[in-house]
Formats: sequence, C-alpha cells, structure tokens
Amino acid sequence: MSTQPLHFSAFIWPNGYHESAWRVVPDDVRGVLGLPYYADIARIAERGLMDAIFLADNIAIAEYRATYLPQTQFDPISVLSALAAVTSRIGLIGTGSTTYSKPWELARRFATLDHLSAGRAGWNIVTTVTPLAAANFGEPFHPDHADRYTRAHEFVDVVQRAWDSWGDGAVIGDRERGVWADRSKLYAPHFHGKYYDSDGVLPFPRSPQGHPVLVQAGQSAAGIGLAAHYAELVFSGPPSLEAAVAFRSNLHAQVKAAGRDPEHVLVLPALMVTLGSTEAEARSRARQLEELASPEFRWQNALYTAGLDPDAFDPDAPLPAELWADQSAPSSRAELLYDAARARPDASLREIAQHVTGGAGQTHFVGTPEQLADHVTAWQDAGAVDGFTIMGSTLPYELTTFVDHVVPILQRRGRFRTEYTGQTLRDHLGLQRPAV
Ligand SMILES: Cc1cc2nc3c(=O)[nH]c(=O)nc-3n(C[C@H](O)[C@H](O)[C@H](O)COP(=O)(O)O)c2cc1C
Repeated sequence: MSTQPLHFSAFIWPNGYHESAWRVVPDDVRGVLGLPYYADIARIAERGLMDAIFLADNIAIAEYRATYLPQTQFDPISVLSALAAVTSRIGLIGTGSTTYSKPWELARRFATLDHLSAGRAGWNIVTTVTPLAAANFGEPFHPDHADRYTRAHEFVDVVQRAWDSWGDGAVIGDRERGVWADRSKLYAPHFHGKYYDSDGVLPFPRSPQGHPVLVQAGQSAAGIGLAAHYAELVFSGPPSLEAAVAFRSNLHAQVKAAGRDPEHVLVLPALMVTLGSTEAEARSRARQLEELASPEFRWQNALYTAGLDPDAFDPDAPLPAELWADQSAPSSRAELLYDAARARPDASLREIAQHVTGGAGQTHFVGTPEQLADHVTAWQDAGAVDGFTIMGSTLPYELTTFVDHVVPILQRRGRFRTEYTGQTLRDHLGLQRPAV
C-alpha cells in the first residue's frame, strides 16, 4: 500500500465543468468575466492546501459553443498573474500551445509568472486540437497530429534552453564595482533546429523554480511520448481503474526508457465530481445537470473536440464511414468518436455522440465526501494515480465541499498534507529544481 501523500490540482472553468453548470448555479451569469470569480476559487483551493489551480486554454472557439455555455477563455498567464497577487502558496498552472506560440516568447511569459509568484508557475504543454486556431493566427493550415507532436519536442527543448540562459549564480549585484551580473554565467541558446531558431538570453535572470513545472495532458501514443520526455505532471487518464493502472505503468516504462526517474512524474487524472451530503442528494444534483444538457451541444462538441467542423455534418445521418472505416484516428478524442461510430454504424451522429462524453475525457464521480475519499485512496493504492485534477461539476460549490469535507477525511487518514511545508510548486509536488 502506498504511503505517498496525495496531490490535487483544481481545474477552473466558468461556473463548473459540467456543460449545464451555469444554468443551475445561483450566481450572476456574467460574474465569470471578472477577477473576483477566479480569486474566490483560487483562495478556496489554497485554503484546502491543494497543490495547484489549473487554467485550460482554447485559442479558437467554435461559434456553436457560445450558444450553449459561458465562454471565458482569457489568456491564462494574465489571469494567473492576477491570482499570484491574491494567493501566496498555491501553484499556478496555465496552458500554452506549442503549435501557436514561439518558444522563446512562451518561455519568457511563464518565467515571468514564476518570478511574480515566487516560484509557483507550471506550464501545461498542449499542441492544440482545433484546426480553427490556424485562421486566428494567420497560418495557412493546422499541422497534423504527428507533425504537431514532432514540433512540440523541439519547442520544449528550446523553452528549457531559454529558461537556462541565465546561470543560477549569474546575478552578483556588486554596487562597488558596478557589476550586476556575471557575463560568464549567461548561456545564450543559439539554437537552430528543424522548426525553430532562437538566439539570445531571456531579458531577466533565471526564475525561482529554474524551470516552471512541466505538465502534459495528451492521451495518444505521441502525447504519452512527449510526456515521457518532459512532463513532471500528467493530467490525462483513462476512466477505468484497470486502464488507469496500465496507463501509469506504461508511462513509467517510457519515462525510464527516456532516461528519467518515474518518481518525478506524477499522474493526476481529471475527475469531474458532483458531491452531496448523502448519495441521494449527489445523484439528484447530477441528474439535474444531465437533464439540462443539450443533445444538440453533445453532437457538435463530439465533432469539435475530434478536430472536425460541426457545420459540415448532418446530425441525423450516421458519421460518414470513410472517416472511421480504415484509417487510424488523428487524435485520442477522434478515436473515442470513431469507436462509438464503429460500435453503432447505422446510428445517427446525434445518437452516437451521447456515448462520447466530456471535453477532457474525464470520468464523473457522483457521491458523498466519504465515498470520494474512498475512491481517491483506492485508486492510489492500486497504483493508478498520485492524486487527481478535481473538476467541480459546478463551481465554486463542488470545490468548497471538496475542501471542507473531503480534505479533512484524507488528512485524518494521513493521506494529505495538513499544512504547506514548502514555498514553490516544486516543493508541493516533491520535484527537484533543475540547476544550471
Ligand atoms: C485535464 C485535461 C486538460 C486539457 N486542457 C487542454 C487545454 O487547455 N487546451 C488544449 O488545447 N487541450 C487541452 N487538453 C487536451 C490535450 O492537451 C490533448 O490535446 C488531447 O488529449 C488530444 O491529444 P492526444 O491526441 O495526444 O491525446 C486537455 C486534456 C486533459 C485530459
């Protein structure tokens, strides 16, 4: 039985992760557009001694989505910088795209956040699923899945070189001699690769963590390959316990093959939670959310997350067989949709989409705090996880319940910290600081 402490990250989403959340919470519908909404959630998560809060990013939204649910895809670094000022210990993880950023520029932004937060920054590395992003960024086309991941390896390499462009002891601050920094400790990347060129040092010294914590959520073979090389925190995870154990041991084997230590790669899969003081209450809250869910949204969203354009499909016809018949799926989200179509080739798209749930491939836990504590510890004991990324189906309500009722149970069982013992996100996660 594992005695390692659990780790938790809190996923922030407007009004909660369930698509109907905004229709059931009593709050002002426009409240999600203001800093107090985010600050409130960050403070609750910090009160619960959670390791980090996590902000996703979608750099292109399909217009159909705006019809069904709140859209608040602010720039994550801007939001997290504001949250750095209203919190003092909790980690701040934001998403950044390797396909639609320049590595030196992204390195600078995350290192800035790491400085401003005194060592609490993390970067969720994504390659961006939606092809709509290309037009927003003036790119002629969206690179295919394999190409995106090949570029991502080089991208992360350049980011790390930029983070290492100032040695740890570079700042001397010698007023007498008028020497602020030791030039022999500046290590310009001078990188000229297949996809990227990046020459000079960052315009400020190395950040407190050296490297902001690297996070990854891809579930395909290429995604896991990228995680094995670089990630210190992995958010994806399959829905069943058996599959999650297999996922983690496969990831660990690949981490070892890449010459890294599996102890330094934590797996915190996404888990949507709906809690109640009794199981019946939790079930009734979950039912209410489901009853308000739109079948129209479901089929459009299943296509969109698979990288397809909903406007190009007829929901009352089956998904065209040429998509799924003999070619392999271009991404893990597309695989889920194609599997559903293969299982019911004559069913309409509207119908098969009901079997493809969740934007992030997460599972939905419905129950009491005690039951959730049991679930979390059972998965940890089975070797499936190091903790979870908690996605409240409604926010901040589920998170408040998690913090006030689940955390104390885990603390009583000796499975979760009773105070923060370190300052940085690396400290919370037990990760080493890379030296230069
Ligand atoms: C918890 C979680 C959060 C994610 N957040 C984002 C995000 O913010 N932006 C994004 O473009 N993709 C996000 N993704 C999607 C993954 O990064 C990845 O693109 C997706 O799993 C498909 O890639 P794959 O085919 O390698 O699995 C998230 C996935 C998970 C499981």
